Amino acid sequence: MKKILVVSGHPDYKHSVANRAILDEFHRLVPQAEIVYLDAEYPDFNIDVEREQKRLVEADTVVFEFPFWWYSAPSLMRRYFEQVLTHGFAYGSEGRALHGKKLIFSFTTGAGEDAYSVEGYQHYDMDAFIPQFRALSNLCGFEWKEPVISYGMMLLDPNDKEAAERFNAAVMEHAGRLAEAVK
Ligand SMILES: Cc1cc2nc3c(=O)[nH]c(=O)nc-3n(C[C@H](O)[C@H](O)[C@H](O)COP(=O)(O)O)c2cc1C
Repeated sequence: MKKILVVSGHPDYKHSVANRAILDEFHRLVPQAEIVYLDAEYPDFNIDVEREQKRLVEADTVVFEFPFWWYSAPSLMRRYFEQVLTHGFAYGSEGRALHGKKLIFSFTTGAGEDAYSVEGYQHYDMDAFIPQFRALSNLCGFEWKEPVISYGMMLLDPNDKEAAERFNAAVMEHAGRLAEAVK
């Protein structure tokens, strides 16, 4: 059976609303996937590199899942990239361990989709922020898959019934798209 590894890079999963709900639903849809919660395993950011590399080697499909923070992945996810995707393992003439594995970036933003345009208040399309992820994928020889992104994923007032319904629908939709993407 194809092995799916999801690496959750939310630095504060306990207080996550969107990504936690997405991964809970994803887990229900794809129970065989292994989900690694970096903040639970490495609260002090001391990542066990050998263990994480082994998990990657055993996977056919890898998902990096996180909230979009300051136009990138949050520090814990980046720490994982820095520590785990090493020369001789992930890249370099001898670094072929990840070649041919599918890679999916899955993330949520606070800003709405219309904010990510030249006219919007973020002043850039989301396409402007994707190359950093795609370059990582290329260097490591992953097979790049379209990222799964949900916008406006901040539930400001849980008592606002309509907003809560929209939010829940977006969570389900994101988890569904991710479940399709890992197939
Ligand atoms: C430190 C920090 C930085 C953030 N940076 C961005 C950003 O660059 N763009 C954006 O649209 N939202 C940004 N947000 C909003 C988060 O993306 C949003 O809260 C998150 O996707 C919701 O997921 P969660 O409930 O799992 O935390 C930021 C939030 C925090 C706390």
